[in-house]
Amino acid sequence: MTLPKPSSLSLLFLLLLGAAHAEDPYHFHTWNVKYATLSPLGTPEQVITINDQFPGPRINGTSNNNIVVNIFNHLDEPVLFTWNGIQQRKNSWQEGLPGTNCPIPPGTNMTYKFQVKDQIGSYYYYPSTSLHRATGGYGPITVHSRELIPVPYDFPEAEHVALVGDWYTKPLPDLLKLLDSGRSLGRPDGVVINGKGGKMEKKTNPKEEPMFTMLPGKTYRYRFCNVGMKNSINIRFQKHSIKLVEIEGSHTVQNMYDSLDVHIGQCYAVLVTADQEPGDYYLIASTRFTKEVLSATALVRYVGGKAPPPEEMPVAPVGWAWSLNQFRSQRWNLTASAARPNPQGSYHYGKINITRTIKIVNSAGSVDGRLRYAINGVSHVNPETPLKLAEYFRVADKVFKYNLIKDDPGVVGEKITVVPDVVNATYRDFIEIIFENPEKSVQSWHLAGYSFFAVA
Ligand SMILES: *[C@@H]1O[C@H](CO)[C@@H](O)[C@H](O)[C@H]1NC(C)=O
Ligand SMILES: *[C@@H]1O[C@H](CO)[C@@H](O)[C@H](O)[C@H]1NC(C)=O
Ligand SMILES: *[C@@H]1O[C@H](CO)[C@@H](O)[C@H](O)[C@H]1NC(C)=O
Ligand SMILES: *[C@@H]1O[C@H](CO)[C@@H](O)[C@H](O)[C@H]1NC(C)=O
Ligand SMILES: *[C@@H]1O[C@H](CO)[C@@H](O)[C@H](O)[C@H]1NC(C)=O
Repeated sequence: MTLPKPSSLSLLFLLLLGAAHAEDPYHFHTWNVKYATLSPLGTPEQVITINDQFPGPRINGTSNNNIVVNIFNHLDEPVLFTWNGIQQRKNSWQEGLPGTNCPIPPGTNMTYKFQVKDQIGSYYYYPSTSLHRATGGYGPITVHSRELIPVPYDFPEAEHVALVGDWYTKPLPDLLKLLDSGRSLGRPDGVVINGKGGKMEKKTNPKEEPMFTMLPGKTYRYRFCNVGMKNSINIRFQKHSIKLVEIEGSHTVQNMYDSLDVHIGQCYAVLVTADQEPGDYYLIASTRFTKEVLSATALVRYVGGKAPPPEEMPVAPVGWAWSLNQFRSQRWNLTASAARPNPQGSYHYGKINITRTIKIVNSAGSVDGRLRYAINGVSHVNPETPLKLAEYFRVADKVFKYNLIKDDPGVVGEKITVVPDVVNATYRDFIEIIFENPEKSVQSWHLAGYSFFAVA
């Protein structure tokens, strides 16, 4: 018997589903976005909450589900949300970045509507303007595989989401002032796991409540995202290894690790089996590549376990090479039957002819007393009229110029031009993007709205 090829298989599913349902299921959410006084690192400060929660409520669904989020902005300034990693191919109006959407004015509401396509995996949303994400407003998005499409591991007992990130205790206006005066944000004040921080304590607090529980012998899926501003974070458990199963919507080759480096904006799903003495264990999140290491712990409790956490804390890896080697060990499982980025209907990536190569070189400098980051010498500013609106109403030529940066910038100097930076691409082009970072700090790139995949 020969099995149908993946492409015809998915076509078959589409036809079947199309016959069974007129429309895919909907998930409706109503969000109230407010300020609240919380103490992520122990001292009260202003945090952005959604429905009084920080992190915000989970958006959860199965691939092809429709998501509708009606957002009421109770802040005293405009707010805009983006759905990190969720493709908005057919509807860039829902992307939630300043070029595509207007922020929601204070005291009003706006409804986002989008469909999560074949993107089984772990993502998060966050407010995308005015540094709001430094003070909360973020939350998890999880997309499950449809029942017909097998997942390359046994269904876990349950799943836990851990949004980790560095955290600043300075009020938002102070952070903005720093940037406006030409300085950087400086060092964060701590690390939070699901909005809760705290230094790694030698002495354990017997009253500490667990953040996660596990049944002895069972396997759990933990979804980790680095929702922070600046630092890569290493995550690790006392006494437990982790099995990597998914990176941003793709099933991976299932390697075992003692710990995992999660860079800004990245999400991973891992499996953890409760195979140790029943008791308490710590999950540790700590900053990487920083002089002073900041960390946070969360308690994981075996149901019915009585033993306190072991004294010994696993140490974080040191240096860049470790991280790069770990990244190199991460691979797609190309035989797992999930949809994956599928340019031009082909599964043979190596054979696709690249139509265009764009080299992106980042730089930083001061322009009119402000710190500015640039791509090929151009630092983007949003014009008053959103870019997509300008195109829609055919007044783009009055608002911005296309293609100011060159695909191959050659040697990028120190000069920085501040202007709207829009690159035009042709439908069905197959573009290779090369990133070059001559700066001394890690750069994370958010390739919003489309499905990109790392090739080297
Ligand atoms: C998320 O959605 C999946 C698939 O619909 C469901 O099995 C699971 O129970 C949901 N989880 C939560 C926490 O709502
Ligand atoms: C605002 O919310 C109301 C429901 O409370 C809804 O009927 C209306 O469509 C929403 N407006 C927008 C612009 O989404
Ligand atoms: C890849 O997925 C297939 C199909 O589910 C599975 O049989 C195989 O063990 C996976 N391979 C690795 C290396 O994880
Ligand atoms: C790539 O280009 C070569 C040479 O022009 C051509 O033979 C081949 O069919 C192209 N491949 C694809 C996938 O279009
Ligand atoms: C963008 O590219 C398309 C296709 O190459 C071209 O037709 C169009 O004129 C370009 N638009 C601008 C403003 O450069």
